[in-house]
Amino acid sequence: MGTDNGYLITLEGGEGGGKTTQIVRLRDSLTKAGKDVVVLREPGGTVISEQIREVVLSAKNVGIAFTTEVLLFQAARAQIYREIVLPSMEAGKVVIIDRSRDSSVVYQGMVRGFGKDLIEQLNDISTKNTYPNLTLLLDVEVETGLKRRESAGAMNRLDMEATDFHNKVRTAYLELAKADNSGRWQIIDAAKSIDEVEQDIWKIVSGKTGI
Ligand code: TYD
Repeated sequence: MGTDNGYLITLEGGEGGGKTTQIVRLRDSLTKAGKDVVVLREPGGTVISEQIREVVLSAKNVGIAFTTEVLLFQAARAQIYREIVLPSMEAGKVVIIDRSRDSSVVYQGMVRGFGKDLIEQLNDISTKNTYPNLTLLLDVEVETGLKRRESAGAMNRLDMEATDFHNKVRTAYLELAKADNSGRWQIIDAAKSIDEVEQDIWKIVSGKTGI
């Protein structure tokens, strides 16, 4: 990989699993433990990738072609990996990303039918064959997730999809996590309280990183 010193953690899952809240807490704990931590989100995380994010997620762009969407997520990913993720890992930092390659596998590849293998090929190009060391799947029932999301504020274009879509997303994530044999996936019960989820995550991360 050429990124041997760093450690890449991704958080994945459907809407309302609390990824953002947990990332802040995880960053704080890792920083307290003396780690140099970089927090990013996809799509986004760099000036160029945030511009791409605006195009791909804007509620105005209902007319976006599916292939355009697929490639824009990959374009944002290619940029963030080259500009920040890979250099940070080479510098020995812990990089945490709110969604990365597995979001494309699930949303575009599995649920919307672009094909898992094709997406993985694109992911390999975008990430220069980089896989996370650890992927935390924050799993929560769709109804609970959407309710949390609604009360948290604005819904974006993809949030507005039907409940059936969100159920497929959840099923696809669980399928992906369970089929994995690299050991990088950890399924977290995100229906628990924020504090409990934080503790569950910290147990895993501290164990894996040897903190
Ligand atoms: P965001 O508002 O960041 O949602 P969340 O808080 O749920 O992470 O929006 C990201 C949306 O983009 C989310 O609906 C998932 C979707 N997405 C994809 O479909 N493919 C991708 O490759 C990525 C990174 C995100």
